[in-house]
Amino acid sequence: MALAAAAPALRPANPHFCSGPCSKRPGWSLAALQGALLSRYHRAKGPKARLADVIARSRAILGLPADWRLGIVPASDTGAMELALWSLLGERAVDILAFESFSIGWATDITKQLKLKDARVLSAPYGRLPDLAEVDPAHDVVLAWNGTTSGVKVPDADWISPDRTGLVICDATSAVYAMPMDWRKLDVATWSWQKVLGGEAAHGMLALSPRAAERLNSYVPSWPLPKIFRLTSSGKLNEDIFTGATINTPSMLCVEDALDGLRWAESIGGLPALIARSEANFSAVADWIARSDWASFLAEDPRTRSNTSICLKIVAPWFTALEAVDKADAAKRISTLLDAEGVAYDIASYRDAPPGLRIWGGATVETADVKALLPWLDWAHARVRAEFSRAAAE
Ligand SMILES: Cc1ncc(COP(=O)(O)O)c(C=O)c1O
Repeated sequence: MALAAAAPALRPANPHFCSGPCSKRPGWSLAALQGALLSRYHRAKGPKARLADVIARSRAILGLPADWRLGIVPASDTGAMELALWSLLGERAVDILAFESFSIGWATDITKQLKLKDARVLSAPYGRLPDLAEVDPAHDVVLAWNGTTSGVKVPDADWISPDRTGLVICDATSAVYAMPMDWRKLDVATWSWQKVLGGEAAHGMLALSPRAAERLNSYVPSWPLPKIFRLTSSGKLNEDIFTGATINTPSMLCVEDALDGLRWAESIGGLPALIARSEANFSAVADWIARSDWASFLAEDPRTRSNTSICLKIVAPWFTALEAVDKADAAKRISTLLDAEGVAYDIASYRDAPPGLRIWGGATVETADVKALLPWLDWAHARVRAEFSRAAAE
């Protein structure tokens, strides 16, 4: 009988490779929150200034155009996206790019909850993007820039017309701070605090182009909007939201943590440094994949491979020959083993995605930790393969 491979000697110093909530920045501790303005009215001068600071620092790091608005809204990225969809859609036809769990979720909301008749769902299976040339510039378009559950990202904005009359509504939660965003090709962008900068989930960010603001000032949806979604009052945009006045009470603890992440981003060199760190993490995985005889990227086209949510499929013949239920079991056993070893937490593929592994490569993850993890993936794969071949032989 073959001897089991020895466990690698080196462990990642930080085993947090979860795709959300993502790893805290290097060196983070609860002490970072000590200055939080707790038990204070969030509309008082001091707390409101902290909220405004989140907006100002986010704008500066991301290079948001001066004529865009940026606000803090309830319920993380989901809240920001739902708020945008319910407030903006219905004025014209909409195209939805549905290619993994979250983007499929937006398509479901638009067709089954909002029940928009004039909605086209442009679909692709996990690992691919829909045909971007199909998007009609006279329609609104809804997409996730980075499909966190398939590891597929939109490679560029060339397919978006500068002369479009529809709005581009982009769920950018696992893209911002890790990928360049061509703001002039977008009209709405949303993200949460819990992704690339490793904040607490809590609140969402909503960025609006002048054309999106103009839609809000001129169009009133035919359906009722709950208070939590309302960006307008008497048909006009509530500009206070974009100065740090939130719709309802925010968590000042989460605000302090978001500020900590933003300050860290500035301290390492801002957006170029954040992107470089994420790309280095991706490259470490890509180099290993190039030598691997059992793992491959789920994203088929190299240009679409996400540098944040790095999704892997298992291509070894022992695995591909399994029934679907055993594939899921085998992939899960790999991530469970690594979790039990304290080497990597939460790297099973997303519950609706093909069985495999998903490693977060955003900026808060150290490349040395990714490199230390990779031999452990080989080790866990060999262990699980041996378990399955023993079971088959019995
Ligand atoms: C692409 C995408 N959209 C939406 C969400 C939902 O984000 P949240 O749970 O922060 O609302 C996620 C979370 O992982 C995501 O990756």
